[in-house]
Amino acid sequence: MENISIVQANQDDAELLLEIEQATESITYSTVKNISQAKSYINSAKILWLYKNNVVIGKVSYVLSEDKTVEITGLIILPAYRKKGYGKYLVKHVIALFPNAKMKLTVHPENNSAISLYYSLGFTSQDTLTNPYGDGEPRLLMIRNPATHQK
Ligand SMILES: CC(C)(COP(=O)(O)OP(=O)(O)OC[C@H]1O[C@@H](n2cnc3c(N)ncnc32)[C@H](O)[C@@H]1OP(=O)(O)O)[C@@H](O)C(=O)NCCC(=O)NCCS
Repeated sequence: MENISIVQANQDDAELLLEIEQATESITYSTVKNISQAKSYINSAKILWLYKNNVVIGKVSYVLSEDKTVEITGLIILPAYRKKGYGKYLVKHVIALFPNAKMKLTVHPENNSAISLYYSLGFTSQDTLTNPYGDGEPRLLMIRNPATHQK
């Protein structure tokens, strides 16, 4: 891929995070709404920026839990850059960082583009959660088990 790099976010990136998240508000994706939420997000998860030609075009975030499960807690590609493989590239990058880990994530059941992306990388749906984030919306719980996945 052309002039692409992945860089870890730091404490100074709260405004950038807010900007990227606010470009993505929709019923199928709960976003960060203010600077203090952006700061606590940066403190509680690893966030990786995707740069193209020195401009941030997306991000992925994850947390590593005590049982060594990796939870993908966020994935965004800015609208102008979607459907070009960048989202898949970011998720593949996280999988490559933890090739032997079980992975999990939640996604809105109507978020078809994200669900297809995750299926294509070996995630399967496990459960439907009624209202896990208190926004009145359901989520699909998806997992990826490296032992049973070939790609
Ligand atoms: C979901 C999102 C990250 C996908 O990013 P993207 O860069 O457009 O995805 P990719 O181009 O890497 O697509 C990878 C795969 O996803 C699927 N896909 C992507 N967009 C799709 C669409 N609009 N409809 C159906 N499938 C789609 C395809 O299966 C594609 O597979 P392919 O490699 O065979 O073409 C992006 O749409 C986004 O930022 N959405 C808003 C935030 C969000 O909902 N994040 C997910 C939260 S769990």
